[in-house]
Amino acid sequence: NILLQLYHEKVIDHYENPRNVGTLDKKKKNVGTGLVGAPACGDVMRLQIEVDDQGKIKNAVFKTFGCGSAIASSSFATELIKGKSIDEALGVKNSVIANELSLPPVKLHCSMLAEDAIRAAVKDFQAKNPGFQCCGAGHC
Ligand code: FES
Ligand code: FES
Repeated sequence: NILLQLYHEKVIDHYENPRNVGTLDKKKKNVGTGLVGAPACGDVMRLQIEVDDQGKIKNAVFKTFGCGSAIASSSFATELIKGKSIDEALGVKNSVIANELSLPPVKLHCSMLAEDAIRAAVKDFQAKNPGFQCCGAGHC
């Protein structure tokens, strides 16, 4: 099976059963939308977060037009950040995603895309909620 040679089983699992595929209303004030692309391959990822009054991510969804690793990375990323504070979400590094999915070096940029998408979604949320108090440690 050519797919099995190229992709680790965890990638295939996320690819075949992607978690949290979807769209949130980007006009809502408590929704942050991150849309990022990888220049190298043209793949595009959209990740959205819905934040509650305490600054916790109560929902995270994605849509990815890209390779299996990018789809798996965004699927896993939404699982990772659900229930986290936006602060903690900013701390999610692509290496965590790459390790979980056993991505080979040529596929590291796919997990980078997920990290970028999380950051972009948080930035968008913060831009829409300027009074929102974050941790003050200079992440954003
Ligand atoms: Fe570019 Fe995977 S090949 S995101
Ligand atoms: Fe830490 Fe904004 S989230 S400074």
